[in-house]
Amino acid sequence: MKNQLFWRLCAIIAFGTVLLFWAIDWLTSRTETSMSFIAKEHQQQLLAYGRQAEQIYNQDGTEALAIWLKELQQKEQTWAAVVTSKLSPFADTSLPNDYIERFRLGRDVEWKIHLYFQENPTMEVPFADASTHFLIQLPNRMRPGAFLAYANLLLQIALPLVLLCILSFVLYQHVMAPLRKLEKVTKEFSEGKLDVRINAPLHERNDELTRLALTFDQMADRISKLIHNQRRLLADLSHELRTPLTRIDMAIDFVEQKLSPEQALERLRYEAATMRSLVEDTLTLAWLNTESPRLNSDDFDLVELIQVICEDARFEYPDRILTTELPEHSLITHSSQLALGQAVENVIRNALRYTPSQSEVKVLLTHLESKYELVITDQGPGVPEDMLSDIFKPFFRVDKARASERILTNTNNSSGFGLGLALAHRQIAAIGGSIKALNYRGESGKVLGLQIIINIPS
Ligand SMILES: Nc1ncnc2c1ncn2[C@@H]1O[C@H](COP(=O)(O)OP(=O)(O)OP(=O)(O)O)[C@@H](O)[C@H]1O
Ligand SMILES: [Mg+2]
Repeated sequence: MKNQLFWRLCAIIAFGTVLLFWAIDWLTSRTETSMSFIAKEHQQQLLAYGRQAEQIYNQDGTEALAIWLKELQQKEQTWAAVVTSKLSPFADTSLPNDYIERFRLGRDVEWKIHLYFQENPTMEVPFADASTHFLIQLPNRMRPGAFLAYANLLLQIALPLVLLCILSFVLYQHVMAPLRKLEKVTKEFSEGKLDVRINAPLHERNDELTRLALTFDQMADRISKLIHNQRRLLADLSHELRTPLTRIDMAIDFVEQKLSPEQALERLRYEAATMRSLVEDTLTLAWLNTESPRLNSDDFDLVELIQVICEDARFEYPDRILTTELPEHSLITHSSQLALGQAVENVIRNALRYTPSQSEVKVLLTHLESKYELVITDQGPGVPEDMLSDIFKPFFRVDKARASERILTNTNNSSGFGLGLALAHRQIAAIGGSIKALNYRGESGKVLGLQIIINIPS
């Protein structure tokens, strides 16, 4: 889902806030209600006063009751009285019995007290006759809700503060936990641990941070692959440079000892040229690997390009038969003549190199819908099936990989550095095409040669 994190935060904040208001309201009203009743021992005290008043009135009469009431008022610092109520309906009306039974002048001691009234309520304890009532204004010391102000402070300020802090912490954790993980992985990656990835469980969140994690992992994959490739390339390059360097050392020794200095100088020139082309090819390959450029600045005729390459190749390999089957013209737009030319040249040279003398190499170009297909078929030994994709890796050579299965080639066969096809692969990718290799087989299934198929966008 798009913007999952936004909706999740929205939901947490919205529901959290509503829930918080509701909880505060509920708790406040619960606390107020529970604080609105006279304490049990005070209820008992008030009832006891009522019973005492009734007893004094019954046994000692009103005078004694008056004295006792005065003492009580002084003792409790309040007002108290004993009154009679006579409900006498008139004008031919009558009162239902239960009304007479429930008729009260004050409040029952068990009733809820309104905490916000200034005046204390009057409490009533009815005598047994139901028409005499002991009334007392609730003494201050018995008034409930003494801690209401503190409770309100706690519920309306402290509790929301704590709950909002918890909510903020949860939100912070929700966002920061993956960011912390990302920071840790980025730090490790920057310190050279190229195989660290964020992976699950961040990927399971399925939100904006997951997208960030996925992008990081993709970036890390690409960068680590690039670095590994570059390291490999550099290691292979330095390994390959060793041979010409040794030969250069030997040639220098020869010059110093004045042993055939001319031959030695020629050797020096040759090795220097070899080293230059090796370094140049490796640098081009590194550039193509790192930048993955799209080469699209040239428009040219592919047939013309192939013909020029074939002419040069025929000159270099006069003992091979190089045949071509090309259309009259084939215009290519938004491509690179240099890159495509080098790639095709490499493939054709390989074909000629691995094809025995007097054997044929065929170059066939066909125009398909929106592309050209260039097929180069030789009559060489082919490539072991499991190495068909390896030959496009830099510095890979079949004879190096399988020294024991050294392929039979002719005199011109001194194999190169194994960079040609790797370069061709990247160069063709840079013009938006593709290249693959397969063994060309006869009816018996026997390998008759190697076939390289290049697709070139027109
Ligand atoms: N036509 C072919 N027939 C048989 N094997 C081939 C053919 N073309 C390429 N190979 C194998 O693939 C390997 C890689 O080829 P690639 O062109 O990359 O390198 P190379 O020709 O050995 O050296 P470079 O092209 O750098 O001079 C070769 O070493 C060879 O073993
Ligand atoms: Mg080659």
